[in-house]
Amino acid sequence: MHVSKVTDGVYQLSINIENMLFEGLWEVPNGVSMNSYIIKGEKTAIIDGVCGWDGVPEHFFGLLKELDIEPESIEYVILNHMEPDHTGWIEDLKKIHNNFKVICTKKGAPLLEAFFNHTENIMVVGDGDTLDLGGHVLEFAEIPNVHWPDTMATFDHNTGTLFSCDAFGSYGRVDHGNYDDMLSEEDLKWYEEEAVRYYANIVAAFSMFVDKAITKCAGLPIKIIAPGHGVVWRKDPMRIVEDYKRYVAYQKGPAMKEITVLWGSMYGMTEKGVNKVVELLEKEEDIKVNVHELPQTSWGQILKSVWTSTGVVLAMPTYEYKMFPPMAAALEELGKKKAVNRLAFRIGSYGWSGGAQKELDHIMEQQKMNWSFIDPVEYKGAPTKDDLVKIEAGVKALVEAVREAVK
Ligand SMILES: Cc1cc2nc3c(=O)[nH]c(=O)nc-3n(C[C@H](O)[C@H](O)[C@H](O)COP(=O)(O)O)c2cc1C
Ligand SMILES: [Fe+2]
Ligand SMILES: [Fe+2]
Repeated sequence: MHVSKVTDGVYQLSINIENMLFEGLWEVPNGVSMNSYIIKGEKTAIIDGVCGWDGVPEHFFGLLKELDIEPESIEYVILNHMEPDHTGWIEDLKKIHNNFKVICTKKGAPLLEAFFNHTENIMVVGDGDTLDLGGHVLEFAEIPNVHWPDTMATFDHNTGTLFSCDAFGSYGRVDHGNYDDMLSEEDLKWYEEEAVRYYANIVAAFSMFVDKAITKCAGLPIKIIAPGHGVVWRKDPMRIVEDYKRYVAYQKGPAMKEITVLWGSMYGMTEKGVNKVVELLEKEEDIKVNVHELPQTSWGQILKSVWTSTGVVLAMPTYEYKMFPPMAAALEELGKKKAVNRLAFRIGSYGWSGGAQKELDHIMEQQKMNWSFIDPVEYKGAPTKDDLVKIEAGVKALVEAVREAVK
């Protein structure tokens, strides 16, 4: 856990979380940071908190001391959203002192009661409401469903800092510099990869609301973006805003000039077809190819790759009259994230009567995915020479369609 200065009177407390599944589900191979902020005017406010903050009183006291802040002087606890990754610490904070006001949205207050039985000293704020700390005038902007219904962003008019909560966040531990101005271009690109995986996992399903949040925040004179996870954007805050605009747009496609191959195979028959597909795709130098075997690849990575891809190859056998189960689960999750309008090509092996294709059609329809498929190539057992020729034609057609869509 470390403390750093964001700008005049604004400080960050940050902790990296590793070796866990974020939301109990997503692998974070490079960790994820939880960022909390202190704004020190004549009065002091803290924005969000960090979970896993073991022994909060000691740590917290220590860090506040570094900042010359008495814990009792924290007058306002601003909860940009109620998800316990940001608020789980509130009970610990109460051990330090109990005389603070909680600031949250109308939808946040009942959640605060339901999750932490906290009902006292709550100040409900909405769009355009302000709080004058003396030296820092904060304005609140509701950005519902980014990513819980109660979410808001807090804007400090004096420093131009937008505390954006989950919006504009990224995965990735931040021990070698929490700020874009301290990072090399190579580092920033690394964090942008972390950002799009974070986006695809955590906020993708709410892309429409992210879009609205971007529009709303665009009306504010932003100089710094300080999210609840990942890098603080001080030098070029519009870089992450533009990134997020692209991530929103990928939902409905076309996305990037990328093709993702998702494949699974029990005895290597489907894999024989996959090898042909990959061999052909790797010759296409202008197209990035992501190849993921299921179920070995993490869901988070699969979602990220499909999110940024305009084309998808699905390769799976029939299993008990249905589709190879991990592929069905991944496709349903992609449907729930509303990764629609992909250009796609499916291949796969079966033993006697098949069934994978039927389930694929069903999932596409049920999840309203509107993927545009080139004729599938299904084969009994191992692919024949003729099947491989058909696969080649399918790959070529997909490549052309992707090139046509992403000019
Ligand atoms: C557990 C299991 C269940 C299967 N269920 C079906 C089935 O319901 N219908 C069918 O046509 N083939 C079925 N098959 C046959 C496979 O689809 C066939 O062996 C295919 O070649 C497997 O491709 P793979 O080696 O890429 O996994 C099943 C095979 C296994 C091992
Ligand atoms: Fe969240
Ligand atoms: Fe969060």
